[in-house]
Amino acid sequence: MPIKEAIFIKSAPDLQFCPETSLPEICFAGRSNVGKSSLINALTKRKNLAKTSNVPGKTRAMNYFLIDQTWHLVDLPGYGYAKISKKEQARWGVALNEYMLKREQLRLVVLLIDIRHKAMQSDIDFMFWMATKDIPFILVLSKADKIGVTKQQSAEALLKKTIKDMNIDTAIYVMSSNEKKGIDDFYDFLRTYIE
Ligand code: GTP
Ligand code: MG
Repeated sequence: MPIKEAIFIKSAPDLQFCPETSLPEICFAGRSNVGKSSLINALTKRKNLAKTSNVPGKTRAMNYFLIDQTWHLVDLPGYGYAKISKKEQARWGVALNEYMLKREQLRLVVLLIDIRHKAMQSDIDFMFWMATKDIPFILVLSKADKIGVTKQQSAEALLKKTIKDMNIDTAIYVMSSNEKKGIDDFYDFLRTYIE
């Protein structure tokens, strides 16, 4: 069942400003420029619902989108972008942790990793932190169209090994927001966390 309606609700700088609702939500997280906002557009089949840019650091607050009046998709600011001041990075780090620990209706974190680069230390630290806090998450290797199928498979195998070594067992999706291959299956998988 594809998404029929996707509406921008609000931008929240931190937990305190998140919508007061009990609707379940799924958030998209990862380093700056990894393709979070683009994947939200691909999922909802809207071109400019979430603002994207080839310059990292585009999304600066948690952006809430109401999906079919029943759940929220949350586009998060990225981490690890050097040009954002240390102070702002630290503020966002604290806000992100607080949101993930206290937002009761958060059902799933979708963590994106650029398929061309192996998981960076910040991604590993974040996965480890979520695992120790029992925050459910899945992984997306993004921008798959940028490399060939063989390289995609080795990137997936490497990530599988990385998480296995961390004692983490979770799903890995290889996705391209440009080609949109497998996007409907991915959406159906996300839905299982909402129902
Ligand atoms: P921040 O909001 O800065 O954290 O970035 P983001 O993770 O939301 O990334 P965004 O969706 O803005 O995409 C960053 C750049 O990557 C844009 O130029 C996109 O067009 C491009 N991009 C995103 N997804 C894909 C993809 O699947 N394939 C290709 N080729 N480019 C992509
Ligand atoms: Mg973004």
